[in-house]
Amino acid sequence: MTSIWAETVDLPSFPTLKGNVETEVAVIGGGLAGILTADALRREGVKVLVLEADRLGSGQTGGTTAKLTAQHGLKYHQLIQDLGMAAAAQYAWANLGAVRRLRKLVEERHICCDLEDCTSFLYTTGAPGLLQEEFDACQALQMDVFLTGDTELPFAVQALGLRDQARFHPLKLLAALAEDLTIYEHSRVLTVEGRDIATDQGRVTAERIVFACHYPFINAPGYYFARQHQERSYVLALRGAAALRDCYLGIDENGLSFRSWNVYLLLGGGGHRTGENRQGGKYDLLRQAARRFWPGCQTAAAWSAQDCIPMDGVPYIGLYSGSRPDWLVATGFQKWGMTSSVLASEILCDLALGRTPMADSAVFSPQRFHATASAKQLAKDTAHAVRGLGRRVLEPGRIPAEALPEGHGGVVEVDGEKLGVYRAEDGQVYAVPVKCPHLGCQLEWNPDEKSWDCPCHGSRFDYQGRLLEGPAQTDL
Ligand code: FES
Repeated sequence: MTSIWAETVDLPSFPTLKGNVETEVAVIGGGLAGILTADALRREGVKVLVLEADRLGSGQTGGTTAKLTAQHGLKYHQLIQDLGMAAAAQYAWANLGAVRRLRKLVEERHICCDLEDCTSFLYTTGAPGLLQEEFDACQALQMDVFLTGDTELPFAVQALGLRDQARFHPLKLLAALAEDLTIYEHSRVLTVEGRDIATDQGRVTAERIVFACHYPFINAPGYYFARQHQERSYVLALRGAAALRDCYLGIDENGLSFRSWNVYLLLGGGGHRTGENRQGGKYDLLRQAARRFWPGCQTAAAWSAQDCIPMDGVPYIGLYSGSRPDWLVATGFQKWGMTSSVLASEILCDLALGRTPMADSAVFSPQRFHATASAKQLAKDTAHAVRGLGRRVLEPGRIPAEALPEGHGGVVEVDGEKLGVYRAEDGQVYAVPVKCPHLGCQLEWNPDEKSWDCPCHGSRFDYQGRLLEGPAQTDL
């Protein structure tokens, strides 16, 4: 399904890579992190190109709600507890700096991307204890926060505001930045060996390679598949709902997110771990909430997005691995890809140029390991991977193929072999293997997206088995 951003901008097109090319830096990924990094390098006089598997901005940048903020959920109290005050301060100041830098870039280059200043709020409809803890942590980090019970939301809340944040149209920004770059679309990277990149029709030799493709797909070195998991969430663009001046995120279970753009109110929520949405109904939940708050409003667009969630709650930005000094990476942005992309572009540009990266970058180093912060999530992620693998081998198919109603999908067993079967609305049946080509876990049906999703590391495929999202690199 197409986001409101993709429906309201004409993105430029770029050729497919054919033949052999040499460059100083190759950036893999044509989302905001990759394009901002390429733009920063180009301005430094570096010869740089971008390889995009699909179209510019077709990944998470096109699915974000584009809140530009250093308020990343209930983040700072936990960071202080897990990593200490110095690391939490680095995280806060790097992200506050990213908000300022993007605002400056947009102003200086007169980019029309509907960037507007706002206050960013966390809210609860329950007890305010967690907000108070977060408020205390933010104050200790000298962030400009306040507590209030007075917001524009159509229900009573307690809220924590962070002043001087922003929101914008992500694809308008991307289109403007792409104008001066060398970009190859429909050029999926198949392998990376040393400084050589192979796509299906071309090859690139680069002195440095930047992985800004949402999920780093090279398993070793780096082992990012063992250091983060993926989550999906859903968004509606509503007409006829309230126009909100500020941005809001609920911290309660099933909390919702709100921000306005143009005549639309973007309502987000329904988050779940990728591969764990067998029952579906996420869009319906959002539609019900919309009707409750603004009876008569209409859905103009509906879409979903996917986020990488790192084990210790901090993105990985820096060297891909200690053993590969010419590979750089940016991943694990959680749900905060806009600010993370900006700070990633600055850190990666410095590293690619051989400069000492900006102050406050140490907390993002992929070579860190915080045992306290990571242990719990590592245990959970490992359990998921073991379950995903075990399910494929040990669990029988769940439903006879002939029992699948039209419009539904499920795991079935045919002659002792497990298949993922989708019976379309017109009765046509589509069958795919349920073994994920990444590391072999069993895929699960996602009825909201009509896709096969992997609970282990979040790869996704459409009902015909075509790859939608990695780390897998091939169709089913
Ligand atoms: Fe890793 Fe499926 S994404 S096994």
